[in-house]
Amino acid sequence: MSTASTGHPSPAAASGAPLPRTRSGPSASAGRRVRFGVVGAGFIATWFARAVAAEPAAEIVAVASARPERAAAFAAEHGVPHAHPTLEAMLAEHGPDRAAPIDVIYIGSPNSLHAAQAIAALEAGYGVLVEKPFALTPAQARAMAATAERTGGFLMEAWQTAFEPGAAAIRAALPRLGEPRRATFVREQFSSRMSAYRAGDLPPAFDPALGGGSLMDLGIYPVSLAIHLFGPPDRVTATAQLLDSGVDSHGTVTLSYDTGERVGLEVACLHSKTSANALGSQISGESRAILLDHCQWPEHISLITAPGSPEESREDLSVTRSGEVMGPLLAEVCRLVSAGARGSELHPVSASVAAIEVLSEARAQIGVHFPDDDADA
Ligand SMILES: NC(=O)c1ccc[n+]([C@@H]2O[C@H](COP(=O)([O-])OP(=O)(O)OC[C@H]3O[C@@H](n4cnc5c(N)ncnc54)[C@H](OP(=O)(O)O)[C@@H]3O)[C@@H](O)[C@H]2O)c1
Repeated sequence: MSTASTGHPSPAAASGAPLPRTRSGPSASAGRRVRFGVVGAGFIATWFARAVAAEPAAEIVAVASARPERAAAFAAEHGVPHAHPTLEAMLAEHGPDRAAPIDVIYIGSPNSLHAAQAIAALEAGYGVLVEKPFALTPAQARAMAATAERTGGFLMEAWQTAFEPGAAAIRAALPRLGEPRRATFVREQFSSRMSAYRAGDLPPAFDPALGGGSLMDLGIYPVSLAIHLFGPPDRVTATAQLLDSGVDSHGTVTLSYDTGERVGLEVACLHSKTSANALGSQISGESRAILLDHCQWPEHISLITAPGSPEESREDLSVTRSGEVMGPLLAEVCRLVSAGARGSELHPVSASVAAIEVLSEARAQIGVHFPDDDADA
């Protein structure tokens, strides 16, 4: 793996310092709401709409989904003024000179559509907030980054963790560990779609043609957290159990850091869509460890000194989460877009690309193949 691009959050970004500005395309001006167009009307689009309803700096202008009736129902439920049968129709209708302009297209469609839809929106002059995983393949991820660079448009992956108060607490505590030697990040949750799969359906979450599987759906969280905190690894080692559909149900990705600032660190990323989790995550130094309850939304966090010894002591670093699940991410996107930024320094596009490089290497090792991989060959 390349170590050229670390993806490390800079202190300047964490403090809200100025970011590179958009060269072209619509950008929200200070004092008015950031206008979103939503792609998809499913589970995550609903979470997004709830966050927008609670965020004074945001509004949804339009929605497009695969089935026009779903888009219309979503529009009616969330008070969205425009519903479109396709993304293309939405892009044609909401440019900066039209009656109902959109600043940012939020992409909440199945994984396999993220890259093409993000590129189409950027090419049409819109900013893009795209759900995780950023793309299916490294070539797609790099093409998205290159398109944003060329068009000057805003581009960011909607990986929420970076903007969580718990992640800020972990970043602040990390220097107190000394050299981190091992981390174990766990994202494990029995899938609500498993019963449909077992009954003979093929939901997107388990469909290789749509970029499904545990690694892409849940493994992305521990891998992204590792890259966020430690940068891209030098080596990736993956094992998994596969379903008959060809995607993985659960597995482990080990990230090894052999060179540079994090030399000697190993991060075990455990992910599963077929088991429940009662185990937290942990980052260990030589005599201290940080425990976190959840590696997507860390809330109960503690710093343990001399674990297992008579001198053991525990410092509570827990944070309180409140409001809508996507609230912290959305507030930051509104701040960035209103400031004319082209992306987030706290969760830069380079980190999203690095995560897809790791997932792609892991998929190659466990034998999960997507049709989109053939286009990369
Ligand atoms: N950040 C998070 O915490 C989080 C959580 C869950 C999911 N996600 C991500 O969000 C994405 C969607 O997941 P989900 O659980 O919301 O899936 P979902 O409930 O199946 O919803 C997907 C939506 O995409 C729509 N769609 C399909 N093809 C489309 C097309 N060509 N153009 C426009 N819309 C299209 C579907 O349309 P119809 O309804 O009209 O058929 C559906 O409304 C995935 O990438 C997933 O990884 C993120």
